[in-house]
Amino acid sequence: MSKRLSRRTFGTVIGAAAVGASQASRLFAAGAAAPDAAAAAAGDASASRTFPPGFLWGTATAAYQVEGAATEDGRGPSVWDTFSHTPGKTNAGATGDVADDHYHRYKEDVQLMKSLGVKVYRFSIAWSRLFPTGKGAPNPKGIDFYNRLVDELLANGIQPFATLYHWDLPQALQDNGGGWENPDTAKAFGDYAGYVAEHLSDRVNHFFTINEFGAFVELGYRVGVHAPGVKLPPGRFNQTRHHCVLGHGLAVQAIRAKGKAGTKVGLAENMTICAPVIETDAHIKAAEEATRQVNAQYMTVIQEGKYTDLYLKNAGADAPKFTDAELKTISSPLDFVGINIYTPIYVRADGSPQGFAVVPHPKSFPRVASPWLFVGPEALYWGPRHVAKIWNVKEIYITENGCSSSDIPAADGLVYDTDRVMYLRNYLTQLQRATADGVPVKGYFCWSLMDNFEWADGYTNRFGLHYVDYDTQKRTPKLSAQFYKEVIAQSRVL
Ligand code: NOJ
Repeated sequence: MSKRLSRRTFGTVIGAAAVGASQASRLFAAGAAAPDAAAAAAGDASASRTFPPGFLWGTATAAYQVEGAATEDGRGPSVWDTFSHTPGKTNAGATGDVADDHYHRYKEDVQLMKSLGVKVYRFSIAWSRLFPTGKGAPNPKGIDFYNRLVDELLANGIQPFATLYHWDLPQALQDNGGGWENPDTAKAFGDYAGYVAEHLSDRVNHFFTINEFGAFVELGYRVGVHAPGVKLPPGRFNQTRHHCVLGHGLAVQAIRAKGKAGTKVGLAENMTICAPVIETDAHIKAAEEATRQVNAQYMTVIQEGKYTDLYLKNAGADAPKFTDAELKTISSPLDFVGINIYTPIYVRADGSPQGFAVVPHPKSFPRVASPWLFVGPEALYWGPRHVAKIWNVKEIYITENGCSSSDIPAADGLVYDTDRVMYLRNYLTQLQRATADGVPVKGYFCWSLMDNFEWADGYTNRFGLHYVDYDTQKRTPKLSAQFYKEVIAQSRVL
């Protein structure tokens, strides 16, 4: 299928998304009073398209995707250094050696955030800057960089939210026993998490343990198209998944033990979002059950402290080996749940014993520049709603959501990314619908502050609100930055 979408297809998507939209559009259509005024008069938040008071607007990045300075100040190599330097692994042989040179330009980047008006920023910490070989003696210059970044954010009125693991495993841990295949990595991760909490929790109140099990474990250890590029057989692979959730649990405990009182901890998971094909009670119920089952290996075991019977049955002899104590660690209570949401799968009720079926996307289903990114705005409604309803979670953040685009500067040098604006408007419409329905979403982090190293895709498929010219490192706000700035200023969908 072509990656480009015709205007007509876009129209269909927008129309479909609007079906579930708030009364605001109806008020507009009827030519009634401006929605804000009408909503305020009616006391109806859903009609206003506004977000609840105190809603936190933010942006996100990750260390290997933006920092560069790959060998500076004692940073040890990570699996992504090795992988990206291996011929044929990334688009055009791209590496994160320089990326956005954020390590040196972080002050300028904080000003970009300030100009957007964001209140929160989610960044990740490069484990191998702090512990060049993953464990042992810390490299003080590593934590120094994050001290400087955190101080700069706070000085500009932006709250730092820190992710401890965004895929850049220290290479030494991979070389010694297979990285996450080895339970020692889970332990080393816990120790590193404790060290970070000890040093940053006086200024950072929110920590995410691990970013997207559903991507780095699957793509890195099963499919082999992300670092470390391994293709494990099912039994070893399921055991690796288990060590990753165990590492999360150990990190939660370490942050509680070493962090300042009041430090909050959660995760940022790209759980599979199951949207009901039609919003009837039967399909919604099926989508809820599907959510538990298709996320059994990560989110469900973290929330429920056990693997579902269906997961264990399907895995058979390849099921992970575990102890009750490990399950207890894995399900250590969290303060909040972060979900990275880009796209849904569609689920319908059926008469099978499991009670649901996944409806595959038709070939013509609209996508944006990344071939995996099907446009399904309702994911931002159903994702948080399922998490709140199924697991009774009271504090939810959308830790990533964004759109890849070709982003070619126009003759005037600006990038008119109307596709990204369309995408964000429709997704935020569904997020607002969730908050209006009482789903406790407390904040939203747009991916990404600026274009960056998009893993195996290299520097193609740009996700930024700011265009980065990689020859000069010049950052230019795109049309979507202007859009997002307005959304933030008014805290409503525009
Ligand atoms: C999720 C990942 O966390 C992030 O690193 C990546 O760039 C975006 N998805 C877009 O693919």
